[in-house]
Amino acid sequence: MSKQYIKQILADAAIDTAVVVRGWVRTKRQSKNVTFINLNDGTTINNIQAVVEADTITEEVLAKINTGACLEIYGKLIASQGGNQKVEVQVENIKILGEADPDTYPIQPKKHSFEFLREKAHLRPRTNTFGAIFRIRHALSFAIHNYFNDHGFFYLHTPIITGSDAEGAGEMFRVTTLDLKNPPKTEEGNIDYREDFFGKETNLTVSGQLEGELGALALSKVYTFGPTFRAENSNTSRHLAEFWMIEPEVAFNDLTDNMDLAEDFLQYLVRYALQHCEDDLAFLDARFAEEEKQKPQQERSELGLLGKLKFVTENSFERLTYTEAVSILKNAKKKFQFPVDWGTDLQSEHERYLVEKHFKKPVILTHYPKDIKAFYMKMDEDGKTVKAMDVLFPGIGEIIGGSQREDDYQKLKDRAAQVGIEEESIWWYLETRKFGSCPHAGFGLGFERLVLFVTGMGNIRDVIPFPRTPKNADF
Ligand code: 4AD
Ligand code: MG
Repeated sequence: MSKQYIKQILADAAIDTAVVVRGWVRTKRQSKNVTFINLNDGTTINNIQAVVEADTITEEVLAKINTGACLEIYGKLIASQGGNQKVEVQVENIKILGEADPDTYPIQPKKHSFEFLREKAHLRPRTNTFGAIFRIRHALSFAIHNYFNDHGFFYLHTPIITGSDAEGAGEMFRVTTLDLKNPPKTEEGNIDYREDFFGKETNLTVSGQLEGELGALALSKVYTFGPTFRAENSNTSRHLAEFWMIEPEVAFNDLTDNMDLAEDFLQYLVRYALQHCEDDLAFLDARFAEEEKQKPQQERSELGLLGKLKFVTENSFERLTYTEAVSILKNAKKKFQFPVDWGTDLQSEHERYLVEKHFKKPVILTHYPKDIKAFYMKMDEDGKTVKAMDVLFPGIGEIIGGSQREDDYQKLKDRAAQVGIEEESIWWYLETRKFGSCPHAGFGLGFERLVLFVTGMGNIRDVIPFPRTPKNADF
């Protein structure tokens, strides 16, 4: 017989049939004649209740059934006597697969802070909240592949180790096999990377875009979905040193097509979660409401979590230029911590003001000044701005960054030189503009920022199983 999992048993096992359930004890309630065990195997947020009548199992076994222990329970599925569940298991026998010492098992049935649980990242998937988050994370990954497959995109695997800096921001992790204590030196006294594993300087990628573009200029529609790495010393609730990015790249698309794709894609993903993660989202919606109650009135979200998600699927995104946004921000009554001036990058407080206070819906900002954006973006006719777009979301700020790409060989080459990118590191990228160039566009969606939005969590470290942040690479 194939193994049974709790989700299936709760959904479709017949009353009065024999069942074997396995999982981890969430709670045990004991009275004189009966013991109630709540068991969860992570297939669903819902526990199954097992009822042990007196004398069915020995005191010795009963004593070992503590929160965190792993059990195999043999019994019969019966209609539940209690109010909270439709069915329960009438226990005939219990085998303890793994004990958990109640004095040292850290995840007890009480409210733990997320900070505490981050230090127990090896066990936190066994809580309701993290179980729900990781199931939703899975559903969203699946939905991403679904969306692109249905729309004729090809999944392109771009390299993780690269010799170029796609974003030109220089925030990269070095990859080397050189002896750090005694590296080979050139005559000038610099480290001689010709002796290194790849015979050149290499890093972990900050983005798969440049290689993605090579794919788009042959297969028309491609996307990447992989880990990316940024060695910036950001300790915010929105930044990770290792995060997952989805980067579609499409030949013959211009900036408007790119915006249409981003909007349709995000709405599809949120809708998918609403349709496929009902139980988990209901749980997180209640958690979100509880959390909001702790905040001062003026900081509380007007909508609940489910309300926020539906709002995104039902309203089109506001589209305006960076220049228009700057004038809105300059005229705002709110005092910002960072001043706004044409030419400076917008801070998260500005982005959130536009989305949460001014427009009260997702916003797509376009045509940013060229100096605050990457070298590969297509220059506007005015020579000052580029065909960039950032999608801004409530509670998150920037969730997507993208652009139409510079497709003119000379302009791209000049721009790379201006910002100090060495031609020998991107000669292959430049060549696509020499041979059969065409207009094309794409964007990057930060996967964890999406999961943050959909789950209503407050910190990006809580939506990836094992977060990597400055001074933290445990687990
Ligand atoms: O805006 P970014 O830097 O754009 C790129 O990397 C382009 N190459 C994308 C493209 O056009 N193909 O990053 C894209 C998105 C951001 O909007 C944000 O959601 C996320 O990636 N992101 C991060 N997420 C978590 N931690 C970080 N440190 C992040 N940096 C960017
Ligand atoms: Mg960006």
